[in-house]
Amino acid sequence: MYSVTNEKKIDELISHYPVKRSAILPALFIAQEEHGYVTDGDVKYLAERLDMRVNEVEEVVTFYTMYSRKPVGKYKLQVCRTLSCQLAGAEDIAHHIEHKLGCGVNQTTADGKFTLSEVECLGYCDLAPVLQVNFDYHESVTAASVDEIIGKLA
Ligand code: FES
Repeated sequence: MYSVTNEKKIDELISHYPVKRSAILPALFIAQEEHGYVTDGDVKYLAERLDMRVNEVEEVVTFYTMYSRKPVGKYKLQVCRTLSCQLAGAEDIAHHIEHKLGCGVNQTTADGKFTLSEVECLGYCDLAPVLQVNFDYHESVTAASVDEIIGKLA
């Protein structure tokens, strides 16, 4: 199902927990690394490997915004839409990105480079508005700083 390296990583993960299902979150990251997103096959495979029901794996995948169930761009731009960020202009930031990239929320640019989404609180409320790009956080973003961030990635 996975590369030999990733199969070994999953075996290693499972060995760290008293109950196999406890490895679900890092195992999903491995699945995502392997295929770019969590496929239907990943959900079934990890359910078997971790002694879980398919719907239990599906529930975990769809609960956390760090996992994707469909192909996404190389860079995931996630704008926090929770209260502090909303009050600090997150909606304007999201609209700015939509116009700049020519794609809406939950869409990917035609070149497959960027996917824009809105997510719940990223934990940096005092530095709102916050934009997460893959695993990097950018606080107190403005239209100008977003342009700079996207410009470096483009
Ligand atoms: S409300 Fe946006 S980081 Fe908490």
